[in-house]
Amino acid sequence: MTDSLEAKLPAASAFQKTIDGKKTDLYILKNSKGMEVAITNFGGRVVSILVPDKNGKLTDVVEGFDSVEGYKNAPGPYYGAIIGRYGNRIAKGKFPLEGKEYSLFINNSPNTLHGGKVGFDSKVWDAKQIDSTTLEITYLSKDMEEGYPGNLQAKVVYTLTNDNGLKIDYTATTDKTTIVNLTNHTYFNLNGANGGTILNHKAQIFADTYTPIDPTSIPTGVIAPVKGTPFDFTQPTVIGSRINDKDEQLINGKGYDHNFVLTKPSLDSPVATVVGDKSDIEMQVFTQEPGLQFYTGNFMNGQNAMKYGAKDNYRTAFAMETEHFPDSPNEPKFPSVVLKPGQVYKTSTEYKFSIAK
Ligand code: BGC
Repeated sequence: MTDSLEAKLPAASAFQKTIDGKKTDLYILKNSKGMEVAITNFGGRVVSILVPDKNGKLTDVVEGFDSVEGYKNAPGPYYGAIIGRYGNRIAKGKFPLEGKEYSLFINNSPNTLHGGKVGFDSKVWDAKQIDSTTLEITYLSKDMEEGYPGNLQAKVVYTLTNDNGLKIDYTATTDKTTIVNLTNHTYFNLNGANGGTILNHKAQIFADTYTPIDPTSIPTGVIAPVKGTPFDFTQPTVIGSRINDKDEQLINGKGYDHNFVLTKPSLDSPVATVVGDKSDIEMQVFTQEPGLQFYTGNFMNGQNAMKYGAKDNYRTAFAMETEHFPDSPNEPKFPSVVLKPGQVYKTSTEYKFSIAK
């Protein structure tokens, strides 16, 4: 973000529309530290996160749109969205479950990505603002919507803490055995939403292994050590320092677009930390999920007009999607994503902001 551009939340009126017969709006969370977050119930999308930088200047660290139409008209990058019913890819859009094979829409040829044709990212969720720091959104995904069995009742609670954390609590229940893998797809630029490349940010990911992918971004099934590869982020590392290496995995992902196997998923100690080189804003990620998809905006191509007059240029944002591993329904060795009637899917993730020491 340039100095003349002051970070501010988009106008709520630009989000007050009717989509699929349901009202959309912009919900604002504020904490005692002056941090502000804006979320729309269209796809449960995080629109803005305003945090102070090293000079105390309020900075919007989310790349996104300033109207609900922006999000609706550009579903592909999944800006800020809750992803479901299955976050990430399912090979060839097929999976077995209790002896039956299910077929999904192929929206990322030859695979299914982030739910299918119309995922949770493009549904209007029912929203209830609990108080100034808490927003609850719910969505009922009907039996066989997008080809997934069972009525899935999903709930996501966003809470802005007084430690400058945005906590995301997910729950879901089903009436038939199904698969579920929910995540959030916020695109961060810790230098600010108009801050240019993220390649000079420093990232640390507490993962000793990751899941290499084939050229269609489906895990090969191997859990590979990061040591000695460009995937070793166990020490703070400049994101761009190895991203263009002639490495088969970087070529397959067109950059970083891989699932890291978290060494110790936890809500108490971070699984990843990223620092913006210009702002010194540090983001810590905490999660109970076994995996973290680190995506460096390799498919961003500047075709969308974003907040602050920015374009969504190549690698001007990154995502850290906490989730189960891609294609888990077809990989019995990966942690299970099966949810049965009577069970409760329950998982939390937190993105916490501070100034790097
Ligand atoms: C995927 C990328 C994809 C991006 C936007 C990420 O979660 O891993 O391959 O391009 O989402 O759709």
